[in-house]
Amino acid sequence: MSPLRRVWRWADDRLGISDVIWPVLTHLAPRDARWYYVFGTATLTTFMLQVITGIALALSYIPSTAEAYDTLQFITHQAPFGHMAQTFLMGSYKYPREMNWITGVLLFAVTVAMAFTGQLLRWDQTAVWSILVSAEIAARIPIVGPSLARFLLAGDTWGGQTLSRFFSFHVFWIPALIFAFVGAHVWLVLRHGISEPPKAGQPVDPRTYRAWYHATIRREGVPFFPDAAWRDAVFGAGLVIVVAALAVLVGAPELGQQPDPSLLASSPRPDWYLLWTFSLFALLPPSWENTFIIVGPAFAAIVLFLIPLWNRGERSPARRPWAVASVIAICLTVGTLWIAGITSPWSPDFAARPLPPTVVGTAGGPVELGARLFYDKGCEYCHAIAGYGGLRGPDLTTVGDRLTPAEMTWRILNGGANMPAFAGNLTPDQVDALIAFLKSRTAR
Ligand code: HEC
Repeated sequence: MSPLRRVWRWADDRLGISDVIWPVLTHLAPRDARWYYVFGTATLTTFMLQVITGIALALSYIPSTAEAYDTLQFITHQAPFGHMAQTFLMGSYKYPREMNWITGVLLFAVTVAMAFTGQLLRWDQTAVWSILVSAEIAARIPIVGPSLARFLLAGDTWGGQTLSRFFSFHVFWIPALIFAFVGAHVWLVLRHGISEPPKAGQPVDPRTYRAWYHATIRREGVPFFPDAAWRDAVFGAGLVIVVAALAVLVGAPELGQQPDPSLLASSPRPDWYLLWTFSLFALLPPSWENTFIIVGPAFAAIVLFLIPLWNRGERSPARRPWAVASVIAICLTVGTLWIAGITSPWSPDFAARPLPPTVVGTAGGPVELGARLFYDKGCEYCHAIAGYGGLRGPDLTTVGDRLTPAEMTWRILNGGANMPAFAGNLTPDQVDALIAFLKSRTAR
């Protein structure tokens, strides 16, 4: 026996490579499972990519409030929405693969948690407001809410301790859960075998399915490696190239402003994958918000966990009109809300430009100073004057005709529904200048 072979024999005996790894690699897969079966490994590939880039990122990221903002580049998050919709549509969650679905749902939840905690690590203005908004949401949960919010913030308000806490969630706790769930998920895929492509008129019957599957796979199956794995490899490699190209060509998202608690006007917008929920809550009647914020996610979670109860019968989407209709309805709803979230007329316009001199009218004096404050203090994000500014609050083009200085002062100092109170943020002189400016906004 050649020395190389002897070394291999030894290693194989002690490590169990051909006993364990080889059978796993060559497990039989359905012969007609073709290109549309690559999404599972594709998700796994992007996860590995996240792990590797995440570790690289951790080399230079400093989880302190002073450094976080400067040291950060953000990684692209690949949410496995598509994979989930596909397994649902193909009925792959049916007997005996119910637990594959459940571990998949858990993976989905931790992926969202991962993306969300990652967003906070950017430690810019948006990140900090997002965390405050979510702590407020958590605080609305009955009974445990306030303690949960305190747990998230690591105190009564955000600060360095919040950042450390989210860093530990993001790099230790949630990844540990992800590894555990990925392990369970892959193990279950091996245990129950890859589901065969569904055929209409071939319902799943728990009494006969297993025997039928094993007989079929033994007769017609092909070893996963190399017969099926090459497609996964090609698709995975393509995906890595696309992600790398995006990183080079598009790059990391812009960081917002440094967090500053005195800046009242900010844009606590969630990242793209949750943008649709932002529209949902902006468009709901405010009185529904409380209920919806708690009941909505709980309802969604319960439905997702209960889906495997329908674990028998047809798997083919051609015979499951309700499954197809519900996926289409969800895509349309989320898509519409998402588009609304991008335009978001209800949201402050942070791109507003200072009012041009032709609109201000007077050069020098309190009116001009007021116009400058109107921009500097963020009023213009929410209020339009002569077409300049956001649409969140009432148009103030002719506010001088409508309100007395006392009414304006009261509103500015006290705020209102969706307007922050500026009492602590303006000196008496600044208030006078703002009033002088607003007083000059008349129709003539
Ligand atoms: C986050 C958005 C937002 C910002 C920033 C904001 N406002 Fe408002 N403002 C509103 C909303 C919304 C209302 C309506 C409040 C209500 O009716 O309770 C309002 C009402 C007003 C009104 C009364 C208008 C009317 O027609 O009744 C005045 C005057 C006003 N704001 C001035 C200002 C000034 C001056 C600033 C800056 C110092 C400012 N606002 C900043 C959203 C904002």
